[in-house]
Amino acid sequence: MTDKYLMPTYARQPVTFVTGEGCRLTDSDGRQYLDVVAGIAVCNLGHCHPAVTRAIQAQAGTLVHTSNLYHIQAQETLAEKLCQASGMEKVFFSNSGAEANEAAIKLARLHGHRKGSDNPTVIVMDSAFHGRTMATLTATGNRKAQAGFEPLLSGFSRAPFNDVDAVRRIIEHNKDVAAVLVEPVQGEGGVNVPDPDYLARLSDLCEEHDLLLMLDEIQTGNGRTGSYFAFQQIEGCKPDVVTTAKGLGNGFPIGACLVANRASELFGPGSHGSTYGGNPLGCAAALAVVETLQDGIIDSVHVRGQYLRQTLTQRFADHAMFREVRGQGLINAMQLDRDCPELVGLCRERGLLINVTAGSVIRMVPPLVISEAEIDEMVNILEDAIKAFSDSQEAA
Ligand SMILES: Cc1ncc(COP(=O)(O)O)c(C=O)c1O
Repeated sequence: MTDKYLMPTYARQPVTFVTGEGCRLTDSDGRQYLDVVAGIAVCNLGHCHPAVTRAIQAQAGTLVHTSNLYHIQAQETLAEKLCQASGMEKVFFSNSGAEANEAAIKLARLHGHRKGSDNPTVIVMDSAFHGRTMATLTATGNRKAQAGFEPLLSGFSRAPFNDVDAVRRIIEHNKDVAAVLVEPVQGEGGVNVPDPDYLARLSDLCEEHDLLLMLDEIQTGNGRTGSYFAFQQIEGCKPDVVTTAKGLGNGFPIGACLVANRASELFGPGSHGSTYGGNPLGCAAALAVVETLQDGIIDSVHVRGQYLRQTLTQRFADHAMFREVRGQGLINAMQLDRDCPELVGLCRERGLLINVTAGSVIRMVPPLVISEAEIDEMVNILEDAIKAFSDSQEAA
């Protein structure tokens, strides 16, 4: 096996998985792993959920692709289900999260121009992650990801995360602001959970100034935080745009940009498009996901997340490296006092797949079907790996 013909955009770990079921992956040597990465917060129903597999198999044998020149039944049904689940009004389907955000950014520009601005500006946050295309990379608050790709796009202004007053100050000084784009919980930026009233206050501010409130729920959507979308847990939060992807297809690539209120009439025929977006195969997969998620799985997320945070805190609070455990539903993290990329390998050698983000943050985004016994197993392995990490640090 060789990756010599692949562009080296990822520092890949030395393992190849061949099968998956629930929270488990099996590698090419037959070794099993407990997976709390879930394809980077994607396989919310677990690997190879039978309902999704069946839907993909059936649709693949019927009709795969026709293009958006024609009506697509599964797309129309999926859009209706997503609107019912979220209270949003209309949907545009893409193939990825970044593309869903591209649609949102284009909507912001249309909204700004409609208001008479020549240079519509989107307020984005420090430590945000919105994707790797040029517009979403510009919106992303990570200089390392942006380095070398300048010139970035114009039309973005940045505020600290969880600081409504900073957003207000930008709005007051810049008449071109058209929208605010924000993650309800920052994922790649380190699992940062804002104050409970943050989104409701941003929502009020957007309403007051006729700006679009655009929520990037690519990682937090599809049940991850304990409701279909995270914003639904916040009274008074009325988004105009919600983007999602990741868990929507449980591994099948599909994204969506949902609109309501001020944003619902901005796109018309010809103003945006995608050859593959919302094709029959992707929509059949996502339909099975949305229906299965709402069949009781999301209801268990709060309890399971609470158990995970409690167990981690009990086990690690006295550890010298421990800083804190934070999260919402089943997007959680343990912050250490130092960078810990070595932990990824130490855990993998012990049969656990984790992800380290923002240097010192162990991120846990397991399938939402993870059991308490599997959480215990995760914490046990993590404890052993952290001990090995700690020993190696002392020896160095
Ligand atoms: C919050 C958020 N937005 C956007 C993206 C980009 O999604 P994709 O990789 O599907 O383009 C991600 C991916 O990690 C994400 O977490």
